[in-house]
Amino acid sequence: MCGIVGYTGKQNCMSILLRGLGSLAYRGYDSAGVAIWNGTTIAVTKERGKLFALEDALDKKPIEGTTGIGHTRWATHGEPNVVNAHPHTDAKGQLALVHNGIIENYRTLKEQLLREGVTFVSETDTEVVAQMIGKLYDGDPKKAVLRAMNKLEGTFALAILFRDEPDTLYCVCNGSPMVVGRGRSGSFVASDIPALLPYTRKVTFLENRQMAILQKNGIRYYDRDGNPIEKEITEVEWDVEAARKGNFEHFMLKEIHEQPDALLHTIEQYVSSRTGCLREDAFPWTKEEANQLKRLRIVSCGSAYHAGLVGKKFLEHLAKLPVEVEVASEYRYSDALYSENEPMMLISQSGETADTIAAMRMAKSRNQETVAICNVIGSTIARECDRTLFTYAGPEIAVAATKSYLTQTVVLFLLALDLAEKRGWLTHSKVQEQLERLKRVPDDMRAVLARKEQVQAYANRHALTKKMFFIGRGLDHALCLEAALKLKEIAYIHTDAYAAGELKHGTIALVEDGSLVISVATQKPLLSKMASNMEEVRVRGADILAITNGSSGMEEHCDEQWDFPEVPDMMAPFLAVIPLQLLAYYIGVARGCSIDQPRNLAKSVTVE
Ligand code: G6P
Repeated sequence: MCGIVGYTGKQNCMSILLRGLGSLAYRGYDSAGVAIWNGTTIAVTKERGKLFALEDALDKKPIEGTTGIGHTRWATHGEPNVVNAHPHTDAKGQLALVHNGIIENYRTLKEQLLREGVTFVSETDTEVVAQMIGKLYDGDPKKAVLRAMNKLEGTFALAILFRDEPDTLYCVCNGSPMVVGRGRSGSFVASDIPALLPYTRKVTFLENRQMAILQKNGIRYYDRDGNPIEKEITEVEWDVEAARKGNFEHFMLKEIHEQPDALLHTIEQYVSSRTGCLREDAFPWTKEEANQLKRLRIVSCGSAYHAGLVGKKFLEHLAKLPVEVEVASEYRYSDALYSENEPMMLISQSGETADTIAAMRMAKSRNQETVAICNVIGSTIARECDRTLFTYAGPEIAVAATKSYLTQTVVLFLLALDLAEKRGWLTHSKVQEQLERLKRVPDDMRAVLARKEQVQAYANRHALTKKMFFIGRGLDHALCLEAALKLKEIAYIHTDAYAAGELKHGTIALVEDGSLVISVATQKPLLSKMASNMEEVRVRGADILAITNGSSGMEEHCDEQWDFPEVPDMMAPFLAVIPLQLLAYYIGVARGCSIDQPRNLAKSVTVE
């Protein structure tokens, strides 16, 4: 979705803004622009399409200046064109602003401004904010911004540059992230951490309706009434390298390869290196509370939803805790019944997904306990939940989730072990056995990654396939849903995941000569059932690839088999997911798809 960067300092800001926008491009966008004070006026350049269009325009007509704002827009109100692109200005050219989020009461505000004689050039909700601040401005930018902010409903992160104070940026937000930081050459603002990483790792997150005023020598903070406040500085552990592609052709491939380390880093946070045991303080519930839990409600979107489905299997199998998993966009408009001792768990890589946030706030409004699994420190979900279990995946840039999904499932597994012991279903020594095995999984993952050429060759052979089916049972079915999502996102192939036993209730009618069926068969008690399901599709002409946990005797039921080093059934998802991600990746590459920024998709869906 949209991205914001802003800078004021000693250096020429054009390249800083472009670099920042480049590091936010992974969020998905369809136009981009900058506004820079050039010594005489606020010069604005905007282009439709990818960033290189803006870079070209600025190459031809550079803007010199040391204070500016930039934006990548993912269209919501009005089509993606130059007029609707940000920055937007007011009618008198007193200010330029960039905006992330959606102003819900923009129609009412616009009608009022129209009545007052303001003419609009774009269809956006953002221009309404620019015009309104312009109207309220009487020489005091801070007052005008605060007054405007108090009239706005909805979500927003705004960075504003005033003509009368051309070395200052005014920033406010509500429900849309904004992070600021000081570097050696000046002050920076962005909607997401990667844009700040080249300059500083010491950052401050603005909270709802707070204001930051950036100048080259410092940043001041204010509450919604304009009173000065102190803000805490957070040290971000990600480094710049982590947000670069390195030798990989795409971020997605790089992030798939980072999974063994991501798993290790995540384990390190939850398992004490000194004792080798689960860390007491790393999990949300005491033994007494764990035994009182009646049910866990997991709410999330996309891959995080699929991680929740895997987590359900872990928690129900290991800790005998009933779990319901819901898609956040559905849950928030459902009757959403809940009972006592039923915490809500929100899973979100970004911590900014609009529907997941809405579900979290529903829970909070009725005093239901909220626990998050999240990858981004300082994100809305991490800040607002009662408790956050962080994943340690590092920055995930490719739109398609890979390492964040994996680490979410690992945290759920560790939580399941913790609860299993506290609820008396696993002894301490059984938990230790599992942890010891888990620590060796990163090496197994590397062994699977080393066989990527096999996946690539298969992908090249099947790149033109029009339809594909993923089948599995139990944990494998949950995994199939994620595998199918990856293929849809990255390779634009119509595919779906089916519970293997459910095939004959309809879907099998679609299977014909040459249909490609990927069978995930990693769960020992279900192998004989899977074998029957594979035979059912085979006799109808399907070409079958089986993914198995060790050599499992499935080879006679399929055309090709990829096995991975044998692990206990519950750990199979950590390994099985790798060939499935690679398959989507290589098919996408073979089909010439835009891997890191698939069409129509955004990394973090901050609007409904
Ligand atoms: C988008 C992304 C997905 C992600 C989903 C949920 O659709 O493209 O990769 O799984 O949002 O995002 P979250 O940040 O809440 O995990």
